[in-house]
Amino acid sequence: MNNDTKTIRLDLSGISSFVSDAELKVWHDKCQGYVEALHQGTGAGSDFLGWIELPTQITEADLEEIEVAAKALADQCDYIVSVGIGGSYLGTRAVLEAMTSSFEAYKSHHKHPQLLFAGHNIGEDYLWELCDFLRGKRFGIINISKSGTTTEPAIAFRVLKALLEEQVGRQGARELILAVTDKAKGALRTLADKEGYKTFVIPDDIGGRFSVLTPVGLLPLAAAGINIRALVEGARAMKAMVDSGVPTECNISALYAAARTALYVKGKKIEILANYHPKMHYIGEWWKQLYGESEGKDGKGIFNASVDLTADLHSMGQWIQEGERSIFETVISVLNSDRELRIQPDKEDLDGLNYLAGKRIDEVNKMAELGTRMAHIDGGVPNIRITLPKLDEYYIGQLFYFFEKAVGISGYMIGVNPFNQPGVEAYKKNMFALLEKPGFEEATKAIKERL
Ligand code: PA5
Repeated sequence: MNNDTKTIRLDLSGISSFVSDAELKVWHDKCQGYVEALHQGTGAGSDFLGWIELPTQITEADLEEIEVAAKALADQCDYIVSVGIGGSYLGTRAVLEAMTSSFEAYKSHHKHPQLLFAGHNIGEDYLWELCDFLRGKRFGIINISKSGTTTEPAIAFRVLKALLEEQVGRQGARELILAVTDKAKGALRTLADKEGYKTFVIPDDIGGRFSVLTPVGLLPLAAAGINIRALVEGARAMKAMVDSGVPTECNISALYAAARTALYVKGKKIEILANYHPKMHYIGEWWKQLYGESEGKDGKGIFNASVDLTADLHSMGQWIQEGERSIFETVISVLNSDRELRIQPDKEDLDGLNYLAGKRIDEVNKMAELGTRMAHIDGGVPNIRITLPKLDEYYIGQLFYFFEKAVGISGYMIGVNPFNQPGVEAYKKNMFALLEKPGFEEATKAIKERL
Protein backbone atom coordinates (compact mmCIF):
# COMPACT_ATOMS: atom_id res chain seq x y z
CA MET A 1 0.00 0.00 0.00
CA ASN A 2 1.23 3.52 -0.81
CA ASN A 3 2.34 5.34 2.33
CA ASP A 4 2.45 8.76 0.72
CA THR A 5 0.13 10.95 2.77
CA LYS A 6 -0.67 12.99 -0.32
CA THR A 7 -2.95 10.26 -1.60
CA ILE A 8 -6.24 8.75 -0.75
CA ARG A 9 -5.79 5.42 0.98
CA LEU A 10 -7.70 2.18 1.26
CA ASP A 11 -8.14 0.21 4.48
CA LEU A 12 -9.51 -3.32 4.18
CA SER A 13 -8.96 -4.37 7.81
CA GLY A 14 -12.70 -4.06 8.46
CA ILE A 15 -13.55 -6.97 6.17
CA SER A 16 -11.08 -9.47 7.65
CA SER A 17 -13.65 -11.17 9.90
CA PHE A 18 -15.99 -11.69 6.92
CA VAL A 19 -13.69 -12.77 4.10
CA SER A 20 -10.65 -15.00 4.61
CA ASP A 21 -7.28 -14.17 3.10
CA ALA A 22 -7.68 -17.20 0.83
CA GLU A 23 -11.08 -15.99 -0.43
CA LEU A 24 -9.67 -12.54 -1.10
CA LYS A 25 -6.64 -13.99 -2.85
CA VAL A 26 -8.86 -15.71 -5.41
CA TRP A 27 -9.96 -12.28 -6.64
CA HIS A 28 -6.59 -10.58 -6.15
CA ASP A 29 -5.01 -13.17 -8.37
CA LYS A 30 -7.50 -12.41 -11.13
CA CYS A 31 -6.99 -8.65 -11.00
CA GLN A 32 -3.90 -8.41 -13.17
CA GLY A 33 -5.73 -10.07 -16.07
CA TYR A 34 -8.63 -7.62 -15.83
CA VAL A 35 -6.30 -4.61 -15.54
CA GLU A 36 -4.54 -5.81 -18.69
CA ALA A 37 -7.87 -6.35 -20.46
CA LEU A 38 -8.72 -2.72 -19.69
CA HIS A 39 -5.38 -1.37 -20.86
CA GLN A 40 -5.15 -3.54 -23.95
CA GLY A 41 -8.80 -3.13 -24.87
CA THR A 42 -9.46 -6.85 -25.01
CA GLY A 43 -12.49 -6.94 -22.69
CA ALA A 44 -16.17 -6.14 -23.24
CA GLY A 45 -17.00 -2.51 -24.04
CA SER A 46 -13.53 -1.78 -25.37
CA ASP A 47 -14.88 1.09 -27.50
CA PHE A 48 -15.40 3.07 -24.30
CA LEU A 49 -12.02 3.06 -22.65
CA GLY A 50 -10.99 6.64 -23.44
CA TRP A 51 -11.25 7.59 -19.76
CA ILE A 52 -8.22 5.42 -18.90
CA GLU A 53 -5.64 7.70 -20.53
CA LEU A 54 -7.76 10.86 -20.29
CA PRO A 55 -6.02 12.54 -17.31
CA THR A 56 -2.63 12.46 -19.02
CA GLN A 57 -4.05 13.31 -22.42
CA ILE A 58 -5.66 16.58 -21.34
CA THR A 59 -3.32 19.25 -22.66
CA GLU A 60 -2.53 22.76 -21.48
CA ALA A 61 -4.31 24.01 -24.62
CA ASP A 62 -7.45 22.00 -23.69
CA LEU A 63 -7.51 23.49 -20.19
CA GLU A 64 -6.89 27.00 -21.49
CA GLU A 65 -9.67 26.74 -24.06
CA ILE A 66 -12.09 25.63 -21.35
CA GLU A 67 -10.97 28.34 -18.93
CA VAL A 68 -11.18 31.10 -21.53
CA ALA A 69 -14.71 30.12 -22.61
CA ALA A 70 -15.79 29.65 -18.99
CA LYS A 71 -14.47 33.08 -18.02
CA ALA A 72 -16.06 34.78 -21.03
CA LEU A 73 -19.42 33.34 -20.01
CA ALA A 74 -18.89 33.95 -16.29
CA ASP A 75 -18.04 37.62 -16.93
CA GLN A 76 -21.48 38.17 -18.43
CA CYS A 77 -23.54 36.20 -15.90
CA ASP A 78 -24.62 36.13 -12.29
CA TYR A 79 -26.12 32.66 -12.80
CA ILE A 80 -25.18 29.82 -15.13
CA VAL A 81 -27.55 26.92 -15.63
CA SER A 82 -25.81 23.62 -16.29
CA VAL A 83 -28.33 21.51 -18.22
CA GLY A 84 -27.78 17.74 -18.20
CA ILE A 85 -28.65 14.44 -16.56
CA GLY A 86 -26.76 11.34 -15.34
CA GLY A 87 -23.14 11.53 -16.39
CA SER A 88 -23.78 14.98 -17.85
CA TYR A 89 -24.80 16.28 -14.41
CA LEU A 90 -23.69 14.31 -11.36
CA GLY A 91 -19.91 14.78 -11.47
CA THR A 92 -20.25 18.54 -11.83
CA ARG A 93 -22.68 18.75 -8.95
CA ALA A 94 -20.50 16.48 -6.80
CA VAL A 95 -17.44 18.71 -7.18
CA LEU A 96 -19.42 21.94 -6.88
CA GLU A 97 -21.15 20.93 -3.64
CA ALA A 98 -17.91 19.60 -2.18
CA MET A 99 -15.97 22.76 -2.98
CA THR A 100 -18.37 25.56 -2.14
CA SER A 101 -19.71 26.86 1.15
CA SER A 102 -22.85 25.09 2.29
CA PHE A 103 -24.41 28.56 2.51
CA GLU A 104 -23.09 30.03 -0.74
CA ALA A 105 -26.57 30.50 -2.15
CA TYR A 106 -27.59 32.71 0.79
CA LYS A 107 -24.61 35.09 0.54
CA SER A 108 -25.26 38.52 -0.86
CA HIS A 109 -21.99 38.75 -2.82
CA HIS A 110 -20.43 36.09 -4.97
CA LYS A 111 -17.00 36.01 -6.55
CA HIS A 112 -18.20 33.72 -9.33
CA PRO A 113 -21.55 33.12 -10.98
CA GLN A 114 -23.81 30.71 -9.16
CA LEU A 115 -24.14 27.37 -10.92
CA LEU A 116 -27.71 26.09 -11.06
CA PHE A 117 -28.89 22.81 -12.52
CA ALA A 118 -31.68 21.79 -14.87
CA GLY A 119 -32.50 18.88 -17.14
CA HIS A 120 -31.93 16.28 -14.41
CA ASN A 121 -35.65 15.82 -13.82
CA ILE A 122 -38.97 16.45 -15.54
CA GLY A 123 -40.37 18.49 -12.68
CA GLU A 124 -42.78 21.13 -13.93
CA ASP A 125 -42.67 22.99 -10.63
CA TYR A 126 -38.87 22.83 -10.59
CA LEU A 127 -38.55 24.31 -14.08
CA TRP A 128 -41.26 26.92 -13.47
CA GLU A 129 -39.55 28.03 -10.27
CA LEU A 130 -36.17 28.15 -12.01
CA CYS A 131 -37.55 30.33 -14.81
CA ASP A 132 -39.34 32.50 -12.28
CA PHE A 133 -36.07 32.96 -10.39
CA LEU A 134 -34.00 33.69 -13.50
CA ARG A 135 -36.46 36.15 -15.04
CA GLY A 136 -34.79 39.56 -15.28
CA LYS A 137 -31.43 38.21 -14.10
CA ARG A 138 -28.12 37.96 -15.98
CA PHE A 139 -27.87 34.27 -16.81
CA GLY A 140 -26.26 31.90 -19.27
CA ILE A 141 -26.63 28.23 -20.15
CA ILE A 142 -24.21 25.35 -20.58
CA ASN A 143 -26.16 22.61 -22.33
CA ILE A 144 -24.58 19.19 -21.93
CA SER A 145 -25.66 15.98 -23.62
CA LYS A 146 -23.33 13.40 -25.10
CA SER A 147 -26.00 11.79 -27.25
CA GLY A 148 -27.69 15.14 -27.81
CA THR A 149 -31.05 13.40 -27.78
CA THR A 150 -31.89 12.95 -24.08
CA THR A 151 -35.43 14.11 -23.35
CA GLU A 152 -34.99 15.64 -19.88
CA PRO A 153 -32.22 18.13 -20.78
CA ALA A 154 -33.77 18.79 -24.20
CA ILE A 155 -37.03 19.95 -22.57
CA ALA A 156 -35.19 22.08 -20.00
CA PHE A 157 -33.02 23.67 -22.67
CA ARG A 158 -35.97 24.53 -24.89
CA VAL A 159 -37.68 26.31 -21.99
CA LEU A 160 -34.55 28.13 -20.76
CA LYS A 161 -33.45 29.12 -24.27
CA ALA A 162 -36.86 30.72 -24.86
CA LEU A 163 -36.56 32.67 -21.61
CA LEU A 164 -33.04 33.83 -22.45
CA GLU A 165 -34.01 34.87 -25.99
CA GLU A 166 -37.00 36.74 -24.59
CA GLN A 167 -34.62 38.70 -22.34
CA VAL A 168 -31.60 39.35 -24.58
CA GLY A 169 -32.77 38.48 -28.09
CA ARG A 170 -31.69 35.56 -30.24
CA GLN A 171 -28.31 37.05 -31.08
CA GLY A 172 -27.66 37.96 -27.45
CA ALA A 173 -28.56 34.43 -26.35
CA ARG A 174 -26.01 32.98 -28.77
CA GLU A 175 -23.26 34.66 -26.74
CA LEU A 176 -24.63 33.21 -23.51
CA ILE A 177 -25.07 29.59 -24.50
CA LEU A 178 -22.34 26.96 -24.66
CA ALA A 179 -22.94 23.37 -25.72
CA VAL A 180 -21.05 20.19 -24.85
CA THR A 181 -21.96 17.28 -27.09
CA ASP A 182 -20.89 14.76 -29.72
CA LYS A 183 -18.56 16.01 -32.44
CA ALA A 184 -20.99 15.21 -35.26
CA LYS A 185 -24.29 13.60 -34.31
CA GLY A 186 -27.40 14.25 -32.24
CA ALA A 187 -30.04 16.97 -32.10
CA LEU A 188 -27.93 19.17 -29.82
CA ARG A 189 -25.06 19.13 -32.32
CA THR A 190 -27.45 20.12 -35.13
CA LEU A 191 -29.03 22.86 -33.05
CA ALA A 192 -25.69 24.22 -31.79
CA ASP A 193 -24.20 24.35 -35.28
CA LYS A 194 -27.30 26.04 -36.68
CA GLU A 195 -27.37 28.66 -33.93
CA GLY A 196 -23.59 29.10 -33.95
CA TYR A 197 -23.08 28.28 -30.27
CA LYS A 198 -19.55 27.71 -29.06
CA THR A 199 -19.25 23.94 -28.56
CA PHE A 200 -17.02 21.48 -26.78
CA VAL A 201 -16.76 17.84 -27.77
CA ILE A 202 -17.24 14.75 -25.61
CA PRO A 203 -14.93 12.08 -27.04
CA ASP A 204 -16.68 9.10 -28.64
CA ASP A 205 -14.81 6.62 -26.47
CA ILE A 206 -15.81 8.10 -23.10
CA GLY A 207 -19.23 7.14 -21.73
CA GLY A 208 -21.37 9.60 -19.79
CA ARG A 209 -20.59 8.36 -16.28
CA PHE A 210 -16.84 8.44 -17.02
CA SER A 211 -16.93 11.95 -18.50
CA VAL A 212 -16.50 14.28 -15.52
CA LEU A 213 -12.92 15.12 -16.54
CA THR A 214 -13.95 16.09 -20.09
CA PRO A 215 -15.60 19.48 -20.83
CA VAL A 216 -18.79 17.87 -19.45
CA GLY A 217 -17.53 18.56 -15.93
CA LEU A 218 -14.58 20.88 -16.48
CA LEU A 219 -16.46 23.63 -18.35
CA PRO A 220 -19.28 24.32 -15.85
CA LEU A 221 -16.91 23.83 -12.92
CA ALA A 222 -14.41 26.33 -14.36
CA ALA A 223 -17.26 28.80 -14.89
CA ALA A 224 -18.15 28.43 -11.21
CA GLY A 225 -14.56 29.20 -10.16
CA ILE A 226 -13.53 25.64 -9.29
CA ASN A 227 -9.84 24.76 -9.70
CA ILE A 228 -10.13 22.30 -12.58
CA ARG A 229 -6.37 22.02 -12.91
CA ALA A 230 -6.11 20.54 -9.40
CA LEU A 231 -8.94 18.14 -10.25
CA VAL A 232 -7.07 16.89 -13.33
CA GLU A 233 -3.79 16.83 -11.41
CA GLY A 234 -5.37 14.59 -8.77
CA ALA A 235 -6.69 12.21 -11.42
CA ARG A 236 -3.23 12.09 -13.00
CA ALA A 237 -1.65 11.20 -9.65
CA MET A 238 -4.17 8.41 -9.10
CA LYS A 239 -3.74 7.15 -12.66
CA ALA A 240 -0.03 6.64 -11.91
CA MET A 241 -0.92 4.78 -8.70
CA VAL A 242 -3.29 2.31 -10.36
CA ASP A 243 -1.74 2.03 -13.85
CA SER A 244 -1.15 -1.22 -15.69
CA GLY A 245 2.44 -1.69 -14.53
CA VAL A 246 1.61 -1.28 -10.83
CA PRO A 247 1.66 -4.64 -8.99
CA THR A 248 -1.85 -5.69 -8.00
CA GLU A 249 -1.00 -5.73 -4.29
CA CYS A 250 -0.20 -1.98 -4.49
CA ASN A 251 -3.05 -1.05 -6.86
CA ILE A 252 -5.79 0.29 -4.59
CA SER A 253 -8.44 0.21 -7.35
CA ALA A 254 -7.72 -3.48 -7.91
CA LEU A 255 -7.72 -4.16 -4.15
CA TYR A 256 -11.07 -2.40 -3.72
CA ALA A 257 -12.54 -4.27 -6.71
CA ALA A 258 -11.32 -7.60 -5.35
CA ALA A 259 -12.64 -6.89 -1.84
CA ARG A 260 -16.14 -5.90 -2.94
CA THR A 261 -16.38 -8.85 -5.34
CA ALA A 262 -15.25 -11.28 -2.63
CA LEU A 263 -18.00 -9.86 -0.37
CA TYR A 264 -20.58 -9.99 -3.16
CA VAL A 265 -20.06 -13.67 -3.90
CA LYS A 266 -20.49 -14.35 -0.16
CA GLY A 267 -23.97 -12.83 -0.23
CA LYS A 268 -23.21 -9.18 0.54
CA LYS A 269 -25.35 -7.88 -2.30
CA ILE A 270 -25.69 -4.27 -1.19
CA GLU A 271 -22.88 -1.75 -0.86
CA ILE A 272 -23.60 1.38 1.14
CA LEU A 273 -21.30 4.31 0.53
CA ALA A 274 -21.17 6.33 3.71
CA ASN A 275 -19.69 9.77 4.25
CA TYR A 276 -19.25 11.81 7.40
CA HIS A 277 -18.88 15.13 5.59
CA PRO A 278 -22.08 16.99 4.66
CA LYS A 279 -20.50 18.30 1.45
CA MET A 280 -20.03 14.80 0.08
CA HIS A 281 -23.67 13.94 -0.54
CA TYR A 282 -23.36 14.30 -4.31
CA ILE A 283 -20.11 12.34 -4.43
CA GLY A 284 -22.32 9.49 -3.26
CA GLU A 285 -24.83 10.26 -6.01
CA TRP A 286 -22.06 10.28 -8.64
CA TRP A 287 -20.70 6.99 -7.28
CA LYS A 288 -24.16 5.35 -7.37
CA GLN A 289 -24.51 6.14 -11.07
CA LEU A 290 -20.97 4.94 -11.84
CA TYR A 291 -21.41 1.63 -10.07
CA GLY A 292 -25.14 1.04 -10.60
CA GLU A 293 -25.04 1.65 -14.34
CA SER A 294 -21.76 -0.16 -14.84
CA GLU A 295 -22.50 -3.36 -12.93
CA GLY A 296 -26.26 -3.78 -12.67
CA LYS A 297 -27.06 -5.91 -15.70
CA ASP A 298 -27.52 -9.49 -16.86
CA GLY A 299 -29.24 -10.25 -13.55
CA LYS A 300 -26.05 -9.41 -11.65
CA GLY A 301 -24.41 -6.62 -9.70
CA ILE A 302 -24.15 -5.15 -6.23
CA PHE A 303 -27.00 -2.75 -5.39
CA ASN A 304 -25.55 0.67 -4.56
CA ALA A 305 -26.93 2.87 -1.84
CA SER A 306 -25.47 5.85 -0.04
CA VAL A 307 -25.93 7.51 3.33
CA ASP A 308 -24.89 10.83 4.85
CA LEU A 309 -23.68 10.27 8.40
CA THR A 310 -24.21 11.00 11.14
CA ALA A 311 -27.61 12.30 9.86
CA ASP A 312 -28.69 8.92 8.52
CA LEU A 313 -27.61 7.10 11.70
CA HIS A 314 -30.90 8.50 12.98
CA SER A 315 -32.82 6.88 10.13
CA MET A 316 -31.11 4.16 8.08
CA GLY A 317 -28.69 3.51 10.94
CA GLN A 318 -31.17 1.09 12.50
CA TRP A 319 -31.36 -0.96 9.30
CA ILE A 320 -27.61 -0.95 8.81
CA GLN A 321 -27.03 -2.11 12.39
CA GLU A 322 -29.70 -4.81 12.61
CA GLY A 323 -31.44 -5.36 9.27
CA GLU A 324 -30.87 -8.22 6.84
CA ARG A 325 -27.16 -9.06 6.79
CA SER A 326 -26.77 -8.64 3.03
CA ILE A 327 -24.82 -5.37 3.16
CA PHE A 328 -21.34 -4.05 3.40
CA GLU A 329 -20.27 -0.49 3.94
CA THR A 330 -17.65 1.62 2.18
CA VAL A 331 -16.84 4.70 4.22
CA ILE A 332 -15.20 7.75 2.71
CA SER A 333 -13.49 9.60 5.51
CA VAL A 334 -11.99 13.08 5.19
CA LEU A 335 -9.05 13.17 7.61
CA ASN A 336 -8.79 16.92 8.13
CA SER A 337 -11.54 19.48 8.07
CA ASP A 338 -10.86 22.82 6.43
CA ARG A 339 -11.97 25.10 9.27
CA GLU A 340 -11.47 25.00 13.00
CA LEU A 341 -14.32 25.27 15.48
CA ARG A 342 -14.10 24.18 19.11
CA ILE A 343 -16.82 23.47 21.62
CA GLN A 344 -16.79 26.16 24.33
CA PRO A 345 -16.97 25.49 28.06
CA ASP A 346 -20.19 26.64 29.68
CA LYS A 347 -20.42 27.64 33.35
CA GLU A 348 -23.82 26.12 33.93
CA ASP A 349 -23.35 23.06 31.72
CA LEU A 350 -27.10 22.62 31.45
CA ASP A 351 -26.68 20.60 28.26
CA GLY A 352 -24.08 18.36 29.92
CA LEU A 353 -21.55 18.98 27.17
CA ASN A 354 -18.66 20.27 29.27
CA TYR A 355 -16.90 16.93 28.90
CA LEU A 356 -16.37 17.97 25.28
CA ALA A 357 -15.20 21.52 26.03
CA GLY A 358 -12.09 22.46 24.09
CA LYS A 359 -12.55 19.70 21.53
CA ARG A 360 -12.88 20.41 17.86
CA ILE A 361 -16.19 19.47 16.24
CA ASP A 362 -14.22 17.22 13.90
CA GLU A 363 -12.81 15.23 16.84
CA VAL A 364 -16.36 14.40 17.88
CA ASN A 365 -17.21 13.49 14.30
CA LYS A 366 -14.20 11.17 14.10
CA MET A 367 -15.23 9.40 17.29
CA ALA A 368 -18.74 9.02 15.90
CA GLU A 369 -17.20 7.47 12.81
CA LEU A 370 -14.93 5.12 14.74
CA GLY A 371 -17.70 4.08 17.12
CA THR A 372 -20.05 3.45 14.22
CA ARG A 373 -17.47 1.45 12.32
CA MET A 374 -16.89 -0.81 15.33
CA ALA A 375 -20.63 -1.19 15.99
CA HIS A 376 -21.36 -2.01 12.34
CA ILE A 377 -18.56 -4.58 12.13
CA ASP A 378 -19.79 -6.14 15.41
CA GLY A 379 -23.28 -6.13 13.91
CA GLY A 380 -22.18 -8.11 10.84
CA VAL A 381 -21.43 -5.32 8.35
CA PRO A 382 -18.03 -5.57 6.63
CA ASN A 383 -16.34 -2.19 6.44
CA ILE A 384 -14.08 -0.81 3.71
CA ARG A 385 -12.54 2.56 4.52
CA ILE A 386 -11.22 5.10 2.05
CA THR A 387 -9.45 8.14 3.49
CA LEU A 388 -8.89 11.53 1.88
CA PRO A 389 -6.29 13.78 3.53
CA LYS A 390 -8.70 16.68 2.95
CA LEU A 391 -11.64 17.62 0.80
CA ASP A 392 -10.27 19.54 -2.15
CA GLU A 393 -10.22 19.35 -5.93
CA TYR A 394 -6.95 17.41 -5.99
CA TYR A 395 -8.22 14.57 -3.80
CA ILE A 396 -11.62 14.53 -5.49
CA GLY A 397 -9.76 14.06 -8.79
CA GLN A 398 -7.93 11.13 -7.19
CA LEU A 399 -11.17 9.68 -5.86
CA PHE A 400 -12.93 9.91 -9.24
CA TYR A 401 -10.18 8.07 -11.05
CA PHE A 402 -9.78 5.51 -8.24
CA PHE A 403 -13.47 4.60 -8.47
CA GLU A 404 -13.53 4.61 -12.29
CA LYS A 405 -10.61 2.20 -12.51
CA ALA A 406 -12.07 -0.04 -9.82
CA VAL A 407 -15.46 -0.33 -11.49
CA GLY A 408 -13.86 -1.38 -14.77
CA ILE A 409 -12.04 -4.17 -12.94
CA SER A 410 -14.96 -5.30 -10.78
CA GLY A 411 -17.37 -5.21 -13.73
CA TYR A 412 -15.10 -7.64 -15.55
CA MET A 413 -14.82 -9.73 -12.38
CA ILE A 414 -18.57 -10.38 -12.31
CA GLY A 415 -18.65 -10.96 -16.06
CA VAL A 416 -20.57 -7.91 -17.31
CA ASN A 417 -19.76 -5.15 -19.78
CA PRO A 418 -19.20 -2.22 -17.41
CA PHE A 419 -19.35 0.36 -20.19
CA ASN A 420 -22.87 0.04 -21.57
CA GLN A 421 -26.30 0.75 -20.06
CA PRO A 422 -28.88 -1.12 -22.17
CA GLY A 423 -31.40 -1.11 -19.32
CA VAL A 424 -31.78 2.67 -19.46
CA GLU A 425 -33.64 2.35 -22.78
CA ALA A 426 -36.65 0.45 -21.39
CA TYR A 427 -38.30 3.40 -19.65
CA LYS A 428 -37.57 5.68 -22.59
CA LYS A 429 -39.30 3.33 -25.01
CA ASN A 430 -42.44 3.20 -22.88
CA MET A 431 -42.40 6.94 -22.25
CA PHE A 432 -42.08 7.72 -25.97
CA ALA A 433 -44.86 5.25 -26.76
CA LEU A 434 -47.13 6.83 -24.13
CA LEU A 435 -46.30 10.33 -25.40
CA GLU A 436 -47.03 9.18 -28.99
CA LYS A 437 -43.62 10.21 -30.31
CA PRO A 438 -43.44 9.90 -34.12
CA GLY A 439 -41.80 6.59 -35.02
CA PHE A 440 -43.28 4.82 -31.99
CA GLU A 441 -46.75 4.12 -33.48
CA GLU A 442 -46.60 0.33 -33.01
CA ALA A 443 -45.30 0.65 -29.47
CA THR A 444 -48.00 3.24 -28.69
CA LYS A 445 -50.69 0.86 -29.88
CA ALA A 446 -49.24 -2.03 -27.86
CA ILE A 447 -48.77 -0.07 -24.65
CA LYS A 448 -52.26 1.46 -24.81
CA GLU A 449 -53.72 -2.04 -25.02
CA ARG A 450 -52.00 -2.85 -21.73
CA LEU A 451 -53.51 0.11 -19.87
O1 PA5 B 1 -23.63 7.03 -18.23
C1 PA5 B 1 -24.34 7.35 -19.16
O2 PA5 B 1 -23.98 7.21 -20.33
C2 PA5 B 1 -25.72 7.95 -18.94
O3 PA5 B 1 -26.10 7.96 -17.62
C3 PA5 B 1 -25.77 9.36 -19.50
O4 PA5 B 1 -24.78 10.14 -18.88
C4 PA5 B 1 -27.13 10.02 -19.34
O5 PA5 B 1 -28.13 9.19 -19.82
C5 PA5 B 1 -27.16 11.34 -20.10
O6 PA5 B 1 -26.89 11.13 -21.43
P1 PA5 B 1 -26.55 12.29 -22.45
O7 PA5 B 1 -25.32 12.96 -21.99
O8 PA5 B 1 -26.38 11.59 -23.75
O9 PA5 B 1 -27.73 13.24 -22.45
